[in-house]
Amino acid sequence: MGKTSLPKKSSSSASAHDSIESILAENRRFAPSKQFSSRARIGSMADYEKLYRASIKDPEKFFAKQAEELTWFKPWRKVIQPPAKKGSFEGTQWFVGGKINASYNCIDRHLETARKNKAALIWEGEPAGAFGFEQRTLTYQQLHREVSKCANVLRSLGIKTGDRVAIYMGMTPELAIAVLACARIGAPHTVIFGGFSSEAIRDRVNDCDARLIVTADGGWRRGNIVELKKNVDQALSTESSGTPVSGCPSVEKVLVVKRTAHGVDMVPGRDVWWHDAMADASADCPAVPLDSEHPLYILYTSGTTGKPKGIVHTTAGYLLGTYLTTKYIFDIRDEDIYWCSADIGWVTGHSYILYGPLSCGATVLMYEGAPMFPAPDRFWDIIERHRVSIFYTAPTAIRSFVRAGNEHPEKHDLSSLRLLGTVGEPINPEAWMWYHTLIGKGKCPIVDTWWQTETGAIMISPLPGAVPTRPGSATLPFFGVAPQVVRKDGFLCNPNEGGYLVITKPWPSMLRGIYKDPERFHKQYFSEYPGIYFTGDGARRDKNGYFWIMGRVDDVINVSGHRLGTMEVESALVGNPAVAEAAVVGRPDEIKGSALVAFVTLKQGWPPDEALREKLREHVALAIGSIARPDDIRFTDSLPKTRSGKIMRRLLRELASTGAVKGDTTTLEDFSVLEKLRTAEEE
Ligand code: PRX
Repeated sequence: MGKTSLPKKSSSSASAHDSIESILAENRRFAPSKQFSSRARIGSMADYEKLYRASIKDPEKFFAKQAEELTWFKPWRKVIQPPAKKGSFEGTQWFVGGKINASYNCIDRHLETARKNKAALIWEGEPAGAFGFEQRTLTYQQLHREVSKCANVLRSLGIKTGDRVAIYMGMTPELAIAVLACARIGAPHTVIFGGFSSEAIRDRVNDCDARLIVTADGGWRRGNIVELKKNVDQALSTESSGTPVSGCPSVEKVLVVKRTAHGVDMVPGRDVWWHDAMADASADCPAVPLDSEHPLYILYTSGTTGKPKGIVHTTAGYLLGTYLTTKYIFDIRDEDIYWCSADIGWVTGHSYILYGPLSCGATVLMYEGAPMFPAPDRFWDIIERHRVSIFYTAPTAIRSFVRAGNEHPEKHDLSSLRLLGTVGEPINPEAWMWYHTLIGKGKCPIVDTWWQTETGAIMISPLPGAVPTRPGSATLPFFGVAPQVVRKDGFLCNPNEGGYLVITKPWPSMLRGIYKDPERFHKQYFSEYPGIYFTGDGARRDKNGYFWIMGRVDDVINVSGHRLGTMEVESALVGNPAVAEAAVVGRPDEIKGSALVAFVTLKQGWPPDEALREKLREHVALAIGSIARPDDIRFTDSLPKTRSGKIMRRLLRELASTGAVKGDTTTLEDFSVLEKLRTAEEE
C-alpha cells in the first residue's frame, strides 16, 4: 500500500476537495438556517467560512486570539510547537511556556464577575425525598469553596502536583468537586466510570499508579444501590474472583463520600470519610500555576487490543478546545440551563459537563440516575422543572425514548429548549426527526457532534444558526480542524465515496499520548497514514462538503455510544475456564446501535447449554462491567480462520447480522465451520 504523509488527490476527485475555497463554495449552496441566525454568535455561513478559513490559514494567529479569553498566570511563548520529527504532527505542543490552571478557569475567574452568585451546578439525585426529587445547587462561590477544601484534603492525604488520583463515583456534585480539586493542584485525574467492575478499576489504577482513589459508599441507579466502595475494596484486595492477584500496590488512601449510607467497611489507616476530612479542611487553596502541557487527566478507552489505553490530555490546549466548542457549538449564554446527560466517567462528561461549560461560566445541570427512573418521562420532567434550554444526549438514548412512546414527552412543557445536541454514534434519520419534532418542536437546531476521547473536544458539528443541519450528518469541521476522507492507499475519496476519516493538521485539544506507551500511540494513530491522525472511523463526504460518519472501521464496537474493543471482551471470555477460543463481533441493534455477539468454542467436557451461556455473559460483566455483557453467545466447534490463522471476523459479522455468509471465503481454511455456525444459528 502506498502510504503518504498527506492525503493525495486521486485523479478523479478533482472539484469538491481541491481547496478550502472550493469546499466552502460548495457549502454556500445550502441556505443558512434562519432559526438561530439573528442572535447566534456565528449567525451565517459567511461568518463561519471566514473564521474557518482564518483558523486553517494561520492557526497560530487564530488560536492566540481565542486563547486570550482564558485566564493565564503567564503568557505563552509559542502557540504551536511542532515536533522535532519532520513530516508528522505527532507530539505537537500548544501554548508552550504558558502557565495556566483549568480549575481556576472553570471557577475562580468567574468570582470576579456577577457570575459569582449564579448557579454553577444544579444537581438532581435519582431518589425522591420528602420534598420531591433530591436537589442541590452550588453557586460558583460555593463550588469554589468546596473544590478548594477538597484540594486541601487531597494534599493532606499526601497528593502532590503530578500524582495520579483515580475517581470512581456516581454522578453526585462530589464527583465534579473531586475532578476540579485534582485540576487545582495539578494531580492528573483518572475518572473510572461507575459501571465498571473491580477488575477494570484495578487495571486502570495499576496502569497509572494512582496513589489515591476517591469513591462513594454507593450510588443510586434504577432505585438500586451500586456498590462502589465494595468494588474498590475488591480491586484493592489481594484476593479477587477466587484467584490471587496483586491488588493495587500504588494506592495509599481511599476517600469515601457518604451517599447511600447503607453501611460499608472502612479500612483503618487507608479509608477516610469525605465529610470528616472536609469538615476540618481550609477553604483557602490557590490554584497552582501549571505548564500549558501539564497533564490534566488520563482517561481510559477501549482500543483494538485487549488492554484499554490511557488517553492523556494536557491543560491549556484541552481547556481551549472545550471552551471554544462549548461557546460556539452550544452557543452558550449566561441565562442558559445546560444539560448534558452523559456520565462524567466518559469523555463527554469531562469536556461537556465540566471543563467546557464551566470555563464558559454556564449553569450546568447534573443528574445522578437512570433515564427512565422511576418513570419513562424522567428526562422530560427534568427539562420541564429546571427549564433546560440546551440538551445534549446520545442517539441510543433517543432511540429508547422513541420506543418508550410519544406520550411521555408529550405530557411535558419542553418550551424552554432552544438547542439540542447528540454525540457518540451516528444518528439514524428517524431518531433525528423524532428528536427534532417531538423534543425540539421543530424550532431547535440539532448539533450532531462528532469527536472522540482522543480529540478531547468536538471536531465536526454544525454551528447552530450558521450551518444548516441534515439528519445523520455531523456536517462541517470546527475551527482549526482539517478532516479528510481517504482511501486505503491515502488518496482522497471522491464525493460520496466511503473511506477512512483522517485529520491532517494538529488541533489544540488533541491527545498528547497513551500513558506510558508512546509506541502504541504512534502505531495506533500516526502510522496508518504516516504523519497524520487516523481516527479509526469510516466516513464519506458529500458534494457539499458535509461529513457523514459511517462508524468504526477497526475492531472497536460502539455499543450504546460506548466504545468496546472486541479483543477486550474476547480476553475476558477466554479468562473463563470453559472457553477455548472466542471471537466477538457487532451486529446492528435497533436501540444500542450495535449489539455484541460472541462466537465461542468450548474446552472438552463443557456442555454448550443455556446455563453456561448465562454464566459466560455474567463472567464478562464481572470482568469489565455490564456494558460489555454479550447480547448473544453462540457455541461452535471451531472458528472460521484464514490459512494464516486469523479469525475471519468479516464472515462472523455477516453471519451475526444476516444469518448467512455471502462474502468471499476463498482464504478460509476449513469451510465446514461455516456450515456448523449456520446450523448453530438455525437451532
Ligand atoms: O465512532 C465514532 C463515534 O464514537 C467514537 C468515539 O468514541 P469515544 O471515544 O468513546 O467518544 C464518544 C464521545 C465523543 C468515534 O470514533 N462517534 C462519536 N460521535 C459521533 C460518532 N459517530 C457518529 N456521529 C457522531 N456524532
